[in-house]
Amino acid sequence: APLRQHNTFGLPATAKRLVRITGEADVRRVLAHPELGRAPKFVLGGGSNVILTRDMPEVVLKVEVRGMRLVQETADAFIVEAGAGERWHDLVEFTLDQGWPGLENMALIPGTVGAAPVQNIGAYGLELQDRFESLDTVDLVTGRTVTLNAAQCKFGYRDSIFKGALAGKSVITRLRLRLPKPWRPELGYVDLERKMAETGIHAPEPRTIFDWICAIRRAKLPDPAEIGNVGSFFKNPLVTAEQCRDIIARDPHVVHYPMDDGQFKLAAGWLIDACGWKGKAIGHAGVYEKQALVLVNRGGAIGSEVVTLAKAIQESVYGRFGIRLEPEPLIV
Ligand code: EPU
Repeated sequence: APLRQHNTFGLPATAKRLVRITGEADVRRVLAHPELGRAPKFVLGGGSNVILTRDMPEVVLKVEVRGMRLVQETADAFIVEAGAGERWHDLVEFTLDQGWPGLENMALIPGTVGAAPVQNIGAYGLELQDRFESLDTVDLVTGRTVTLNAAQCKFGYRDSIFKGALAGKSVITRLRLRLPKPWRPELGYVDLERKMAETGIHAPEPRTIFDWICAIRRAKLPDPAEIGNVGSFFKNPLVTAEQCRDIIARDPHVVHYPMDDGQFKLAAGWLIDACGWKGKAIGHAGVYEKQALVLVNRGGAIGSEVVTLAKAIQESVYGRFGIRLEPEPLIV
């Protein structure tokens, strides 16, 4: 089965077998199957965080679990459940329409609901873990459904247990989010402060924040429907205060943010930009003109070109700043 339509970078690759998963029972059916049962498996959501560099000999499980509903309303929160196959942005819009705000800062993040906890998606001052309640997974060996809480998911910056100990071992089928009451806006990010200054609106409604976030993202991030990409290609690196001083000595303009634990987060996009990569390309893979942290498909790119470009960027950032950039998407 062709996978080009199933990965947002638009890379050509095929899967030997592609099985659509619409519920927990489908996973158990695959596990009980005489041939597929014991074959290696690969779980694919919206394909917005993978770079496919080869054809897939694994059985690809395409997660298409649907449904979005309120499961509980308490004095201090709405608990909403969504199937892992729903589009994340649809969930953000649905909850907002229903009067359950709290996800608006994470509008327009590409990918599915099931992929959101894997890399603990985040944007504009909010991360998935800030709204997380629990999720259901099906174990790929036993077929058992297990519910995990936030601590068990081991969330970190663009990280979770699903990128570590549980990588490839289970399928996330349903996610439950906790949307706090009363709603309070999250307006700490510079781009949002700029919107408030521009519009003179200092107590925006959830819808207004949603509209602002959509406008901010559309202005600097490419729409995967038009230009293939996987969002930020590298994580923003964390460095010690000492390393940070060292880098500031090399270039005083380096964009850095203090973290709660005394470390500093550097803007990888700035580092890449400073190395002159914006708008450059290797083969059909390029660096987006408006955001150096995003690699794009200039048309007809193959996975190995993307990897070559990523390595060249890592080398030049290392050479100039002594920082090793870590890719954010899974490279297969
Ligand atoms: N910058 C440059 N040149 C560039 C790109 C960025 O100088 O080419 C500078 C910007 O001027 C800014 C700083 O770098 O001062 C940070 O840029 P931005 O605010 O655009 O955010 P980011 O650090 O590049 C992160 C997330 C995004 C998320 C935004 C907003 C990561 C890896 N990326 O990007 O998430 O939308 O913050 O919260 O943490 C994603 O993970 O796929 C993603 C898009």
